[in-house]
Amino acid sequence: MKRKDSFKRTSLIWLYFALVAVLILVIVTLIMSAVMFLLFRRGDIPPGPAGMFPLDFMIILGAVIGTVVAILVIKQIFKPIERLSKGLRRVSAGDFSVRLKEKSIFGAIREMYGDFNAMAQELAGVETLRSDFVSNVSHEFKTPLAAIEGYATLLQNKNLSSDKAQEYLEKIISNAHKLSVLTGNILNLSKLENQNSVPNRKPFDLSEQIRKTILMLESEWAAKNISFDLTLPAVQYCGDEGMLFHVWYNLIGNAIKFSEKNSAVRIGLQTAENKIYVTVKDRGCGIDEKTLPHIFEKFYQGDTSHSSDGNGLGLALVKRIVTLCGGEILVKSEKTKGSEFTVVLPV
Ligand SMILES: Nc1ncnc2c1ncn2[C@@H]1O[C@H](COP(=O)(O)OP(=O)(O)OP(=O)(O)O)[C@@H](O)[C@H]1O
Ligand SMILES: [Mg+2]
Repeated sequence: MKRKDSFKRTSLIWLYFALVAVLILVIVTLIMSAVMFLLFRRGDIPPGPAGMFPLDFMIILGAVIGTVVAILVIKQIFKPIERLSKGLRRVSAGDFSVRLKEKSIFGAIREMYGDFNAMAQELAGVETLRSDFVSNVSHEFKTPLAAIEGYATLLQNKNLSSDKAQEYLEKIISNAHKLSVLTGNILNLSKLENQNSVPNRKPFDLSEQIRKTILMLESEWAAKNISFDLTLPAVQYCGDEGMLFHVWYNLIGNAIKFSEKNSAVRIGLQTAENKIYVTVKDRGCGIDEKTLPHIFEKFYQGDTSHSSDGNGLGLALVKRIVTLCGGEILVKSEKTKGSEFTVVLPV
């Protein structure tokens, strides 16, 4: 459809050129003929051989005047193309702020300018995303690195008590762990973003995988005395087990992280109409209306001070994986009441 449109537009431009050229020729010839004929009748132009109208003289004069008029008109027609070419040169030099005014009388040129402006805007958006990503990555790396450097410097003090030394060592280890999680998440995300399909599909039991994930998170839920209400019937799913593990790990991890002590998390699994529904529901702090539209963005955290655990990459990863699996993720949340995330997967 798009190729057809662009072919139509190119043909339209050529048609304009051809029409304008023919129009110039016809107008110039008509005017020249009329003027010459009048002058000839008044006797201002000497007759040609055999007292006839001097056709050869008229052809030469017509060609000269016609060429001058054609050059002037074609120059006007080429102006928008010249403007477009200048704009393209600026874009290729990295200036994505350039916009062309869509004022031309030709519809095809207006459309072309519109397309150019849309392209420049899209490129500017991508560039902003890229530079935001780079500054977010550097910021997220800086904090644990500075902590490691600080505690390592403190450890150099020879008079340090063994308790303090132990405390600083633990801080170094925990910050190094944060860096390793962050690097792993960034690598995972960039790998998934360059992937268009699920490579290692094989059947496995989803309920078992979710149970194993809960066990892996034991230290976190045990520390907050969080209980689980599980409805997990055996459901076979054909997909990439390792990839889906990240989905449950992040969703259940968030439910635990954003719940108060002694809270309960409900996890349900069911199939209906050729779809699998996995729901993770908590009674934690919930998400307000302003935050909700952004939670799947990379590095976005509801707590904008980024003082809470994590880097805001978990849900971006989850969304990418679910999309790759051909599914979707739905969220319902209310501030102070809790959140419910539902992953819908095709069978
Ligand atoms: N269950 C939840 N309850 C309340 N808020 C949530 C919940 N899940 C996600 N959020 C909000 O969405 C934000 C983004 O979540 P995401 O999992 O991407 O990042 P994170 O958990 O802060 O960090 P990371 O996943 O990298 O450890 C969170 O910072 C939080 O504000
Ligand atoms: Mg998370």
